[in-house]
Amino acid sequence: MKTAIVYRSHHGTTEKVANMISEEIGKENTRLFNLKKEKLIDLSKFDRVIIGGSIHAGSIQKSVKEFCAGNMVALLEKPLGLFLSCMEDQKAREQFDSAYPELLRSHARSCKITGGEFNFDKMNFLEKAIIRKVSGIKESVSKINESGIKELVSEMNA
Ligand SMILES: Cc1cc2nc3c(=O)[nH]c(=O)nc-3n(C[C@H](O)[C@H](O)[C@H](O)COP(=O)(O)O)c2cc1C
Repeated sequence: MKTAIVYRSHHGTTEKVANMISEEIGKENTRLFNLKKEKLIDLSKFDRVIIGGSIHAGSIQKSVKEFCAGNMVALLEKPLGLFLSCMEDQKAREQFDSAYPELLRSHARSCKITGGEFNFDKMNFLEKAIIRKVSGIKESVSKINESGIKELVSEMNA
């Protein structure tokens, strides 16, 4: 069974999570697609699809939204997993619900909030200032939800 893992990552967290999902499934049975570089993906070659993106200022990347909208029919025909990187625990579910269309969320076998990271080394000056002000956090921190990643894979396999 071949799985396409389609993602967009700003500072590398979602890419890291996509790789962790690939390892959990078995690398030989997955193909990773970074929407920054690859936009036209032939989903007919895959049995299952997993999509991930991250939240910045309340929204998921436009390229993830465009991929979901542009491939809606194919996505509804296959087992689907959705995941999201974000740091705000209290708003996480609300952000997830506005990130992915209702049709895909209700079709998906697994919907997971996979945590997030603040990576100050990769942020620009403005991003650092915003994160310091809004969250009070001043140093890099990682809150990747490893059990959520394992659950996603096991729900996809069920
Ligand atoms: C400028 C900026 C804005 C962010 N805004 C939000 C937000 O509105 N809500 C949230 O839950 N997390 C927010 N985050 C946290 C990101 O979702 C988190 O850093 C995530 O791990 C980024 O994943 P990526 O590196 O794959 O893009 C923000 C991070 C940055 C740097």
